Amino acid sequence: MSIKFESIPTPSYVFDEDTFRRNLEMIDTIKKRIGGEIIISLKGFAMWGAFHILREYGFKAAASSLNEAKLIVEQLGSNANTYIPAYSAEEFDKVLSLSSHITFNSLTQLNKFLPRIKENTPNVQVAIRINPESSPLQYNIYNSCIQGSRFGVTVGHLNGTTIEGIDGLHFHTLCESSSYDLENMLELIQNKFASLIKKIKWINVGGGHLLTSPEYDIDHLVEVITMFKEKTGLEIIMEPCTAFVWNTGYLVSRVLDIVTTDNINTAILDISFSAHLLDFHLMNIKPSVIGATEPQKGKPTYRLGGNSCLTGDYMGEWSFDDVLKVGDVVIFNNIAHYTMVRDNMFNGVTQPSIGIWNNKEGYRLVRKFGYNDYKNRLS
Ligand SMILES: Cc1ncc(COP(=O)(O)O)c(C=O)c1O
Repeated sequence: MSIKFESIPTPSYVFDEDTFRRNLEMIDTIKKRIGGEIIISLKGFAMWGAFHILREYGFKAAASSLNEAKLIVEQLGSNANTYIPAYSAEEFDKVLSLSSHITFNSLTQLNKFLPRIKENTPNVQVAIRINPESSPLQYNIYNSCIQGSRFGVTVGHLNGTTIEGIDGLHFHTLCESSSYDLENMLELIQNKFASLIKKIKWINVGGGHLLTSPEYDIDHLVEVITMFKEKTGLEIIMEPCTAFVWNTGYLVSRVLDIVTTDNINTAILDISFSAHLLDFHLMNIKPSVIGATEPQKGKPTYRLGGNSCLTGDYMGEWSFDDVLKVGDVVIFNNIAHYTMVRDNMFNGVTQPSIGIWNNKEGYRLVRKFGYNDYKNRLS
């Protein structure tokens, strides 16, 4: 049975449980083959209505804030693998009590908080984030290795300092990347941070590994990690997010009006790009729309517009087989990552409901948002 989008009230995020389960099975197999840990990074997907499924498969998670760490402990029942760019003195003890691993972004933060860890929770694993100052990423907004980056300890920061008391290293330098990018990154890290690698037990290779994409070369990944482990003796942790929810999310919207100005047809939808698909909107990366293609001459072609008063709240254009009419459903797919976690109520626009679909039970509404959700964000 395929998802019956027509019957789902709009606007709505629809999460495909069956595809999610397939992703989890795939990641679980990869985890066993590499003999390492693969955890989900919560920053890109925190729809906790689906966390019982992660729990079934025994997946743990990475946090990048106190709130994420709380959610992980509460909903997954395991302590968080935590990296926060800068821990505040007020929050640190709480974060520590919710964490199995703590990664520091700078030597100053490590020196400030390490004594508290050793004294109170000596079993918590401690790491520093390193910055190899080179990454294959083309978008600067995602590239943690840009000049002047605030992320991670560089070789320059180390400047011959000896670091004691850490168990691991962490880096996050990839995004929707391949096993070949990881192979190059591991080579670079081994060359740049050889002296630190000798002192640690594990390395967290961050996120950005698109493990569940059909193009990802899993055999090559297994080869790369096996060789790296043999050479260095280190345990491996991977913390992707996108790979866990690849192809699992839809945003179902409806056409409210068609406006034609200067020969541009805009279908105004009951969603907002800047509120509900923010990551795509900011990066100007068009999400894929079911049944639509890149603009084609001779086909009905539309800009898709959001229902807010921000002039730039539109994306496009897409071509459709048929002319769009008021009431037609427009479905964005593969949008589960970095959308729900970033959505906002700018302009008071209606926040899409959240629902789960599976083949056995069909569609189940998880949460509907209303006026009180809008009102309670501010006071
Ligand atoms: C430190 C860290 N780990 C993991 C991730 C997850 O990356 P992805 O969703 O590309 O796999 C991110 C994303 O920004 C990150 O900053």
